[in-house]
Amino acid sequence: TMTRHEWAAEVRRLARERDAVILAHNYQRPEIQDVADHTGDSLALSRLAASVEASTIVFCGVHFMAETAKILSPEKTVLLPEPEAGCSLADTITADDVRAWRAEHPDAVVVAYVNTTAAVKAETDICCTSSNAADVIRSIPEDREILFLPDQFLGAHVKRVTGRDNIHVWMGECHVHAGIDGATLRERVAAEPGAELYVHPECGCATSALYLVGSGAVPQERVKVLSTGGMLSAAESTTAGKVLIATETGMLHQLRAANSTTVFEPVNPRAECHYMKMITAEKLLGALRAGTTEITVDAATASKARRSVERMVEIGS
Ligand code: 13P
Ligand code: SF4
Repeated sequence: TMTRHEWAAEVRRLARERDAVILAHNYQRPEIQDVADHTGDSLALSRLAASVEASTIVFCGVHFMAETAKILSPEKTVLLPEPEAGCSLADTITADDVRAWRAEHPDAVVVAYVNTTAAVKAETDICCTSSNAADVIRSIPEDREILFLPDQFLGAHVKRVTGRDNIHVWMGECHVHAGIDGATLRERVAAEPGAELYVHPECGCATSALYLVGSGAVPQERVKVLSTGGMLSAAESTTAGKVLIATETGMLHQLRAANSTTVFEPVNPRAECHYMKMITAEKLLGALRAGTTEITVDAATASKARRSVERMVEIGS
């Protein structure tokens, strides 16, 4: 058996041999985040997938992320170390659902969260991630009706921050973030009255967090609704003694590494995405050795989805 150090050295050696770049999402296991060339949120990783020089991308994340990388870089080989790593949110809508919904609103602009299959993306006008969702909505003329899919909590959040009332929202959810609910949040906030709060907009508690601010229970400056990349930037400069984190618990690894004087604690320590955790040390090594599993998107679907995804990559900071 290999030590952790030998494993990392072997992963790096095989990646060089394959001319591969390793990209890891912020929810990956700590050892995967540490061995990767780049760790980041969905938007940052999509931008990297579009711009890196390497001929192969090993995507340590879930299936829709590897598909998005392939759509943006069709000439590259994209490997997903565990092809069964799916997403409960992406599973809440099909391409047929989008076509039927659009037929009911023929003049609407269809905005899709990046957590969707390539087939769904091909039926949409523009994609977004949690870090640029509001900017994507603002890029659409105010008088246009909008269909936002598939996440109901992110949808409610963008409606609130943009102030637009002509946005229809698909009622999907991510089981991990939906499980970080208002009751759990209120309990944690009551127990930690001085702490800051970073909330991912996919959370069931995103509305409750703003209600806590609105009712005066928590001062406005202590509550931030952020993507995982936004959480990391905020963590680097905070002077708070403690920050409560409402998102998947893999995020804590990056936050703690970025700032060792602040204490970061999960709002719900059971909020773990088993799909993200399917990428293990052994799986990554096996993928690099065998060149598996290659993710492909058929050419017709990819070219339709590409317009939507390229717009996403261009919008927001
Ligand atoms: P971000 O890293 O873009 O905030 O995405 C969160 C997520 O749930 C990805 O599955
Ligand atoms: Fe999908 Fe939720 Fe897992 Fe992200 S955390 S990959 S949205 S199931």
